[in-house]
Order: sequence, then structure tokens, then C-alpha cells
Amino acid sequence: MIRLILAPIRGVTDVVYRNAFAVCFGGFESAVAPFLQLRQGHSLRPAELRQVAHENNLSLRVIPQVLTHHAPTFLAALRELKSAGHEEVNWNLGCPYPTVAGRGRGAGLLPDAKRIDGILADVTRESPVQISVKIRLGYHDPDEFQAVMEVFNRYSLKEVILHARTADQMYDGEVDITRAAQALGMCRHPFVYNGDIAGTESFLDMKRQLPGVAAWMIGRGALMNPFLPELIQGGPLLQPDVRRERLVKFHGLLFDGYGRWLSGEQHRMDKMKEQWGYLAHAFSDPQAVFSRIRRSHPGNYQSVVEEVYRVSLADNGRKTEQK
Ligand SMILES: Cc1cc2nc3c(=O)[nH]c(=O)nc-3n(C[C@H](O)[C@H](O)[C@H](O)COP(=O)(O)O)c2cc1C
Repeated sequence: MIRLILAPIRGVTDVVYRNAFAVCFGGFESAVAPFLQLRQGHSLRPAELRQVAHENNLSLRVIPQVLTHHAPTFLAALRELKSAGHEEVNWNLGCPYPTVAGRGRGAGLLPDAKRIDGILADVTRESPVQISVKIRLGYHDPDEFQAVMEVFNRYSLKEVILHARTADQMYDGEVDITRAAQALGMCRHPFVYNGDIAGTESFLDMKRQLPGVAAWMIGRGALMNPFLPELIQGGPLLQPDVRRERLVKFHGLLFDGYGRWLSGEQHRMDKMKEQWGYLAHAFSDPQAVFSRIRRSHPGNYQSVVEEVYRVSLADNGRKTEQK
């Protein structure tokens, strides 16, 4: 088995999504959950803890993620998560949004390796759980990872996940495989590559260029083609009717799940539409599918979905390069 990890995509790869995915599709070994909001001096919000609680994540092992630049708050969250039964927590050092990075959290910490060093010194000394980190190449400068990697090498970390872009790039532009290979070469921890694994071909290409990677993290590629992790694991190309059946089941589990986890029909509708922003790519004409779903309302949503499922699916399940 190739170790594949579902990437955290805030608003999308939540508990409902992760469970439905694990029932309908295979290939992932675990998932890193979208980041928990830490508030200085406060405990974790019960609703956020429920998202990562083991009893709600029985189908796919989940690793909670935290976003903070404050060691005492970090440690308090690690203790809470340990009490909830977690053995590993991921530290987000990659979030690029100005409200986060601009305030020195997420990717905003990457230019300041000394500060990362200070936080890790305080936190790893007393942490009751193993810590993994998720970083980018840098905030503005794609070589910031070098000083950061030297810091990481001084601590005991479960693994280092690299999204091979700078924060300035957000989610677009080329991933930098050359720098990812440099980071892999420097890193003494298990190294996880992340970024633009969009099909079996791009995966094999990256695998060739990054020998020694311990695991691969996939986000949007799997959201747009949920069959991708299974294909990477060597699974067969499925006939369209088999794929359609599994997509219908997946949709049903999402719809029912959000009915239970969210309050109000409008809230559920908004969440489903967010999901369809990715899911539409499993169909041959994603734009047409998404625009029909976007215009739907609680009164006609189910019939629009049924019609959409009569539209043909994307070619063969390997065709996921388009965004
Ligand atoms: C809408 C959105 C939300 C995201 N939320 C998170 C998050 O909560 N934590 C995190 O570490 N990364 C987050 N990411 C980044 C992804 O985990 C991943 O690093 C990125 O999408 C690149 O991988 P991919 O090309 O396989 O999608 C987010 C990305 C997107 C597009």
C-alpha cells in the first residue's frame, strides 16, 4: 500500500465528508482534519472537538490540526486533544490567508525560523502527543524552508508535510518539485509531499522525482475525482454505471450527514453547493453541472441532482487534470 493522506480542506473535508468518503471510496490511510481555531485562554469549542472525536471518525483515522503561534495555547490544545484520545496533532504552518499569515500564524511564521524554534522548544518539551507539521516552501520567499527544515531536524517530529508552493502563490501556479526534492533531502523526519496530485500520471511523475517520500497527501485531486486514491493504489478502472452508483451513494451520505450535523435546510444547501464545486469535476461538463446545482433551491434540489446523474461522468476516472 502507498501511504495516502487526505488533505485538510477547510469547509469541505469535515467529519461528514471523511466518513462518507471512507464508505464509498478507498485508498486513504488517514486524514488530517482542517485546522481547529485556538483561542488564547479558552478551551477548544465543543463543536470543533466533535469534528475530530474518535467516535465520530471510525471509518478513517483522523489527525487534528491546530493553527497558532502561541506556545501555551498550543500546549493547552495538545493536552485537551490527548484527553480526547488523540496521539498525534498536526501544526499548521502553511495557511496563506492574510488574516492568518499577516498576523504571524500559519505560513506567516515561515520567515521566522527562530520563532518556530522557540515555539517547538516550549511545546515539544511537554507535549503529551506526537507533533507533525504542515508547511509551505515559504511565505514570500521559496527558500525559507531551508532554515525551517534545519529547526525541524533538531526536534522529535512525527512527520513533515510540505505543500510545494509559497503562501504568495495561494493555491495556483506551479508546484516546485525541485525545491520539494531539496526539502526531502534535508529532512530527517518522514517526509510527506503535497500539492497538485491530480491524476495517476502526475502522481507517478512526482514519485519518480521524489524517491524516499514516506507518504503523499492529496486534496483537490481527490475531491474532484474521489476514485483517484484507489487508482493510485492500483485499483481497476470502473465502468461508468459502477462509478455513478458510488457517487450517488456518496452524495446521499453527504446529504443525510449534513442534515444531522448542520441546523437548517439553507445551511445544508450551502454546504452541498460547496461540495459540488469539487464534485462537479467527476462529470464530463463540470461547469454545466455546477451551474445547475448552484441555481437549485431546497424545493428542487433532489430532482436537479437526479438529472445531473443522468449526465455522463468524466471520461474514465483518470481524467482529472482540469480544475
Ligand atoms: C479551500 C481550501 C481550504 C484549505 N484548508 C486547509 C486547512 O484547514 N489546513 C491546511 O493545512 N491546509 C488547508 N488547505 C491546503 C490543502 O490542505 C493542500 O495543502 C492544498 O490544497 C494543496 O494540495 P492539493 O493540490 O492536493 O489540493 C486548504 C486548501 C483549500 C483550497
